[in-house]
Formats: sequence, C-alpha cells, structure tokens
Amino acid sequence: MKLLVVGSGGREHAIAKKLLESRDVEQVFIAPGNDGMTLDGLDLVNIGISEHSKLIEFAKENDIAWSFIGPDDALAAGIVDDFNQAGLKAFGPSRLAAELEWSKDFAKEIMVKYGVPTAAYGTFSDFEEAKAYIEKQGAPIVVKADGLALGKGVVVAETVEQAVEAAHDMLLDNKFGDSGARVVIEEFLDGEEFSLFAFVNGDKFYILPTAQDHKRAYDGDKGPNTGGMGAYAPVPHLPQSVVDQSVETIIKPVLKGMIAEGRSYLGVLYAGLILTADGPKVIEFNSRFGDPETQIILPRLTSDFAQNITDILDKKEPAITWLNEGVTLGVVVASEGYPLDYEKGLPLPEKTDGDIITYYAGAKFAENSRALLSNGGRVYMLVTTADTVSAAQEKIYDQLKKQDTTGLFYRRDIGGKAL
Ligand code: AMP
Ligand code: GLY
Repeated sequence: MKLLVVGSGGREHAIAKKLLESRDVEQVFIAPGNDGMTLDGLDLVNIGISEHSKLIEFAKENDIAWSFIGPDDALAAGIVDDFNQAGLKAFGPSRLAAELEWSKDFAKEIMVKYGVPTAAYGTFSDFEEAKAYIEKQGAPIVVKADGLALGKGVVVAETVEQAVEAAHDMLLDNKFGDSGARVVIEEFLDGEEFSLFAFVNGDKFYILPTAQDHKRAYDGDKGPNTGGMGAYAPVPHLPQSVVDQSVETIIKPVLKGMIAEGRSYLGVLYAGLILTADGPKVIEFNSRFGDPETQIILPRLTSDFAQNITDILDKKEPAITWLNEGVTLGVVVASEGYPLDYEKGLPLPEKTDGDIITYYAGAKFAENSRALLSNGGRVYMLVTTADTVSAAQEKIYDQLKKQDTTGLFYRRDIGGKAL
C-alpha cells in the first residue's frame, strides 16, 4: 500500500520513516516534507498543507490507502473533513474534534463540563476585566492566547505586572492577531511536566510511552519558549500509577465528553500534564503528535505501525507493542537565534545511521548538489536508544561533538531531570 503524510518537520519525518518500515507499505509520500527526508527513501510531494483539493487529487491519483496528518493548523483548517468528504481516509481529528487544541477556551469548557482536572481559569476579551482578574488572583499566574500561536502564546508570569503586560500585548496590541483576541488566564500549576499520548478512535484508545519535552531554548530551562529542543521516553521517574491515574481522570472522561458533544475523536490525542500535589492536571490538549516527542516515541514501537493505524481506522483491535527496556532520547539542533531571527543556508553534517537516527526538520539541498543546508529554526534532531538516560546522553553528545555545528546550537542538558 501507499501512504501520504502531511507536514514537513521532524515529526513527519519520524512518522513517515516508521510507516515505510511496515511490511505492506511500498511507498510513503510526504507533502511538502523537506529534502533531508529523501535520504530515508521517502518521496516528497510539492503541495502545501493548506492546498486540500490538490492533496485530495494527489491521493486519488496515487491510490493512497490513507493519510496521516501531522500539523495542528492543517487539522484546524478541516483537512480531515475535506478528505473524508472526498471519500478518503485520514488519521487525524475533524475540525470540530481538533478544537480541543485550536481553542483553549473550548478545551477548558470541555474539561470543566466532564470533570477533567485542570487549572482554575477565566476567559477574557476585555482588557480591563482581564486586568482586574489578574490583580484579584495574584501571581504567579499564566496568560494564554486563546488560539493557535505555535506554542509561543503562553506567558508564565511571575508578577502581576508581567501578567497584565502579557494581557495588554494580546488583547490591545494584537501581538498574536486573532489568536490573542481572547485570552485564557489560569492558575499556575506547580509540579513536573510530562506528555501523555494516545492513538484514539471514539472511545477506543491506546496509550503511548510517557515523554518529556524541553520547551525552553537554553540549558537549565532558560530563554524563550520554543517548539521543543529535545525529549526522551519513557520518563523513568514517573510511576505507572501516575499513567493509570491520568487515563482514568483525564483520557477516559475527555474522550467520553467529545463523543457526548458529537465530536468523536480520531487520531493522536496529546495531553500536556503537570503532576501536582493533587495528582496530574491538564495544561493543554493538542490534537496531534508532539514535535519532538514523536521522534523519540516512534522508534520504540516494535509492532507494524501502518497495520496498527489501519486497524484503528477500521475500528479493529490493533496489536501495538513497545520496547520495554531502556530509554530513547533526542536532541534538537537549531539555528542560532531560533525561536526569533536566524540565518538559513548553513552546511549540515552528514546524516548518521545505525543506532543514532537523524531526523530532519528544516533542511534543503544546495542548488547544484545534494549537500544539505539548514532551512528552518529547528534543523535536525539526533535520536538514540540506550539502557539509561545518561548512556543515551553520552552517545548523542559524543556524536554532536564530532559534528560541525557552526551557526547552530543545541541544549546540553536534555534528559537532565531524569538523572
Ligand atoms: P502550552 O503552550 O499551553 O503548553 O504552555 C507552554 C508552557 O507553559 C508549558 O509547557 C508549561 O511549561 C507552561 N504552562 C502552561 N500552563 C501552565 C500552568 N497553568 N501552570 C504552570 N505552567 C504552565
Ligand atoms: N513538543 C510540543 C508540541 O509539539 O507542541
């Protein structure tokens, strides 16, 4: 069978590479992808993620069995609805189900209605009301743009002044455009952060290994929030009881709630959680796989990925198995200056093979050769599996030391919280 992955980053590279390893898969296309992925035998399709009718035409002409949708903005734009209407299968939620991610206010309403533990909050479109709420609640407090903002629309304010300024930026200065026309202001949750993913179809769900991302740009969780600078799975210091509790108090009720609302969920559900003194609480839901979490979770899948997704789409019981031992860890290499301004076109080191995987996020062939150049904020990621977090770190950081990363940077403490 032939499959299509929609998206262009490291997440889509990992999804497509794993699909291509599946027994019955002869070809995996990625639209639009990036040149680095072709080194793994993946085929690029020069169609953007928002060109639904062209994607549909491509899928029909090429006999695509089903498509896997990577990015949140494609889901929010209703790509799955459009594919389904054209008679095509796609793994991802409908626009209405994806609202769990594209509106923080909607997600909060669902959580309150169906008793899912989350931070106390208020939603505001009026600045004076937002300011009054912040002053009443005090700091620390968290201010979030309601809509999609590439993970950058969240300010964890340590003082009332910072929070008021963030609300001012979003509501009066339009810093995030329409996404910030409403803000959700919520209680600061104290505790360890982790991500829990599930493959879902309706009330059936299959939990993936726990993962921990590193969202800040620099070592020691300093600097601006990014899309994610590195991750590892599973999180060795999170007991199974925490996962079980999260399933009972969070995953089950939210999926039941979505069905009750007529928005039955299909695809990957991503719960961003904080383990507080009162148990796990939700800081956000995403309607898709995480990036970079996908790159460290999927290498641990030991079953046939394409068959698993086919079964979930067909509402059959999938035989999903995971590596039980060791830990998989990955470090993102980004352009200096990311997440703000950065240069493109820097030469990249050779792709690694064997037990260190290179996933490409922003890479492009030079004009007249097949030399790879940087072409984005996050450029590539090295991923490996080892017995322990420190052994995995050693392998990755040894490899990175051998590479010429001039003009690029990476965090040197990925996995540090597990040590
Ligand atoms: P989000 O985009 O919602 O994942 O938020 C970005 C980051 O802000 C999260 O990864 C957390 O580290 C932090 N954050 C968001 N909401 C809260 C909260 N209620 N309490 C503490 N930290 C939070
Ligand atoms: N790694 C964070 C995200 O994908 O949103």
